[in-house]
Amino acid sequence: MKISRETIKLVKDSVDIVGVVSDYVKTLKKSGKNWVGLCPFHNDKKPSFSVSEDYKIYKCFSCGETGDVLKFVEKIEGITFVDSVVLLAKRAGIVIDVSGEGDEYTGKRNDIILFNTRTAKLFNHFLLEKNEGKVALDYLTSRGIDNDIIQIFNLGYAPKEYGRLENILLSRGLNKEILIDSGLFSVGERGLKTLLFDRVVFPIYNYMNECVGFGGRVLNNDVKPKYLNTSETVVYKKSQLLYGINVAKDEMRKTGISYLVEGYVDVIACYKNGIKNVVAPCGTAVTTEQVKLLSRFSSEIILLLDGDSAGLKGAFRALKEGANLDSVKFSVILLPDEMDPDDYFNKYGVDEFKNIVNNRIDAFDFCVNYVTKGVNLKDYNKLVEVLKYLFDYIYLWENIIVRDLLIEKMSALLGINKESLLSEFNKYKGFHNKNDKVEEKINNFIIKPNTVLDDKMKLELDLLIYLHSYTDSLKIIDLSGFDRSFFYCDYTAQLYDKALNNNFSKENFIEGIDNGTVLDYITGCLMSERFSEDEKLLKECIIDLMSDIMKQFWKRKSDQITEKIKLSEMYKDYELIADLQLEKELVTGNMIKIIGLQELKK
Ligand code: UTP
Ligand code: MN
Repeated sequence: MKISRETIKLVKDSVDIVGVVSDYVKTLKKSGKNWVGLCPFHNDKKPSFSVSEDYKIYKCFSCGETGDVLKFVEKIEGITFVDSVVLLAKRAGIVIDVSGEGDEYTGKRNDIILFNTRTAKLFNHFLLEKNEGKVALDYLTSRGIDNDIIQIFNLGYAPKEYGRLENILLSRGLNKEILIDSGLFSVGERGLKTLLFDRVVFPIYNYMNECVGFGGRVLNNDVKPKYLNTSETVVYKKSQLLYGINVAKDEMRKTGISYLVEGYVDVIACYKNGIKNVVAPCGTAVTTEQVKLLSRFSSEIILLLDGDSAGLKGAFRALKEGANLDSVKFSVILLPDEMDPDDYFNKYGVDEFKNIVNNRIDAFDFCVNYVTKGVNLKDYNKLVEVLKYLFDYIYLWENIIVRDLLIEKMSALLGINKESLLSEFNKYKGFHNKNDKVEEKINNFIIKPNTVLDDKMKLELDLLIYLHSYTDSLKIIDLSGFDRSFFYCDYTAQLYDKALNNNFSKENFIEGIDNGTVLDYITGCLMSERFSEDEKLLKECIIDLMSDIMKQFWKRKSDQITEKIKLSEMYKDYELIADLQLEKELVTGNMIKIIGLQELKK
C-alpha cells in the first residue's frame, strides 16, 4: 500500500502529538513551553523526554531518540512507517484507502482485521439471534453473563454444524485464502476446517480495539481442550496481546492500576463486578512485552491469582518480567481456597474483594513467601536454593538502592543478618558482573560514531531554527534579497528552500531530514530554552544570523577573488585583474550593505 504525501501530512496535522505520546508516557507533564516525562525508549530514571506541541516533535535528551509523531508511533509500536500512518489515521478518524496494491504485510494485516471484525459479528449474531446459539446463551446466563456484558465483550457462539461457518463466509464473497490466513481455519482432508465449533467465542482485541483473533470455550467441561485459540498470524501474536485491554485501558489510566488475571472468564467476572481495569494473557505465561504494554497505562500491576499451583508458577515468572521496570510496581493477591475471580465474586461479593485489595502484598514479599513456604531453612541445601532464587530476582534490579532495600527485606523476612546476606549477594554479583563486562565491551563497539557539525553549518541551522520560532516569520522578517545561494552547506540550503515553501511552518520543520546528526542538533535546540521566545530578541538574532551568513558568503567570494587576482598577476593578465578588482569592490560594497541590515532591527 502506498500512501500519498498529502495523506501523510493530513494525518500528521490532525493528531495531537501530546495526546498520542501520553498514551505511552503517563508521566508526561507540561513544563515551560514543552511537555516532559520519562522516556519510553530506555530505562529512564529522571524525565529526559521532551515533546514540543508547536513543532510536533519529541526528543530524549538522554538516549537521543527523536522525531515526529509518526516516527514515535513507528518506534514504540515496532511497526512500519505505513502502519504508523494507518494507525494514527484511525485515531484521527481519517479513512485511508487500503485497497491499493503494495506492501503485502500491511495489506494482509488489514484484511485479517476486517475479516475478524465481520466474523466476530457473525458469531455474535449466532449467539443472540439464532436458535442454535441458544445453548451457549443459556450457558452464559447461567454464569451470570447478561446481554450488556455480551455486547461489551462482543461474545459469540461458533455453530456446531459442520461447514456452516465457512459456507456463510464464502457465500459472502470472502475467499478461501483469507479464511486460512486469519488463523481460524486450517486445510484438512475434507477441505477447510474451522478451529472453533460449538463453543462460546471470545473475540480478542488489541489495545487499538482491532479484532485480532478468537478464543473459544467448550460448553461442556468434559470436552477437551477447554479452550482453543486462533493460531499465530501477523496480527495475533499471543505474547504481545492481553485479553480485555481494549475495554480496560481507560479505567487503567484513570486508576493507575491494572489487574492481571488468568483467564477470559476471569476478566469478565471482574468487569461484571465493577472492576474494569482487568486483562488476561491469552493462555500463555506473562511476557515482558505484556508487562510493558500495561506499564503504558498504569503504574501498578496487581496479579490476581487463583490459589492453585499452576497460577502461582505463572505469577512467579510474571513478576520477574516486571523486575527492574522502575515505571511499574507489582503486587499480588492470592485468592483463597483455590478460587478463581469468578468463584470469588460469586461467593464473597465485591465489598469483600475491596478488603483483599487493600491487603495485597508487594511482589518481593510474595516471592519470599512463595519460595520459603513449607521449606525448612535449617536444611542448608534448601536454604542455598532459596537464596539463589531470591538473589536472581534482586539481581534483575540495576538500581543499587532497590537492591539494598530488597536485601534488607529479605533479611527481615528470613531472619538472616543483613551483612551476611549482603556479602553473599556480592559474591553472587561478582560472578555475574564478569559476564556483563564482556557484553559491555561488545556494546561499546557498536556505538555509532558521532559526526560533528562544523560551526558554519551550525550557524545556518540556527537561522532555520530561529525562523521557525515565529508563528508567522515572513510577516516579521523581510527575506527578499536573502536566498539559498548564501548558504555554505548544500544541505542547509535545501532545508531553507523547503522551509520557505512551507512558510516556516513549525509542524513541517523536521519532515524529511534524513541526516541523524542534523536532526539531533535541530530537535535539541528546539527543545532547549536557549532559543528565546521574546519576539524582539528573536528578530535581532535572526538579523544577526542572516548578516553573519551573508558576511561569510561575501568573505568567501572576496577570498576567491583575491586568490584569482594573485593568479592573474602571475600571468600578468592586466585586463582580468581590472575586472576582478571591480568585482571585489562590488563584493566589498555588499559587505558594507550587510551592515545596513542591522538597521532593520529597529
Ligand atoms: P481457566 O481454565 O482458568 O479458564 O484457564 P477460565 O477462563 O477461568 O474459564 P472458566 O472459569 O473455567 O470457565 C485460564 C486461561 O487459560 C487459557 C485460556 O486463555 C483461559 O482463559 N486456556 C485454558 C487455554 O488456552 N487452553 C485451555 O485448554 C485451557
Ligand atoms: Mn476460571
